[in-house]
Amino acid sequence: MIPANALDPATARALLEWQVELGATEAICEAPVDRYALAAAEAAERAAPPAAPATPAHVEPAGGEGPDPVAVARAAAADAADLAGLEAALAAFEGCALKKGAQTLVFADGVPGARVMIVGEAPGRDEDRQGKPFVGRAGQLLDRMFAAIGLSRAAEDPAQALYITNVLPWRPPQNRDPRPDEIAMMLPFVERHIALAAPEVLVLMGNISCQALLRRKGILRLRGQWTEALGLPVLPMTHPAYLLRQPAAKRHAWSDLLALAAHLDPEPKDTT
Ligand code: URA
Repeated sequence: MIPANALDPATARALLEWQVELGATEAICEAPVDRYALAAAEAAERAAPPAAPATPAHVEPAGGEGPDPVAVARAAAADAADLAGLEAALAAFEGCALKKGAQTLVFADGVPGARVMIVGEAPGRDEDRQGKPFVGRAGQLLDRMFAAIGLSRAAEDPAQALYITNVLPWRPPQNRDPRPDEIAMMLPFVERHIALAAPEVLVLMGNISCQALLRRKGILRLRGQWTEALGLPVLPMTHPAYLLRQPAAKRHAWSDLLALAAHLDPEPKDTT
């Protein structure tokens, strides 16, 4: 791949026109993606030794000035008696600088009490605008994936419903990965969120939620392997944003969805 900065404007334009002639009609990402580097990184991840405990839940308080945000978060989350109280506690939490750059607090969507709770990473641009998790392109794919096994965030019956949240309630700038200290200070809220929503099964979407709740990284090895967290069965899955970039991985996601459906309904009725 030619590095972008090695191109003069005329060559770059000619390459672009060539893409258009080939039928490309729109740019599908906000920023260019080096797919060669992506493939190399994924191969390295698959080849790496088994996932080890990763992100510390306990991060040293920064610089020692002011109260420890993790301790403040823990106390605020513990005080929340219900989901509305937890949302209010998050809204009042001043320990995370991401809040200042975000337009909205993205708390949750779907049906509290649903059998399945999905925990994603963090809001993107569309979620930040609308104040709801997973409403952009990745979210639309997520909806289609779960609809294929009869689950929806709009379902009235909790047996067919989803409840959806993220590790981070505020959009990180330029959609960068959440930092370990940000994950650590949000973890008490996420744990309380799960306790109050009381799902039967947790689905962790992508690396960041696995890092937060399982203390493990390496979603390509973790996906599809049932595990446990907070006393609940947990199914890690690849993030729908990853599936948009790597459509070939959808077959693994489909097998994970089937595993989830089988877990929820081990003896489906014979309708023939
Ligand atoms: N990705 C996530 O992990 N969560 C969202 O809400 C949107 C995109």
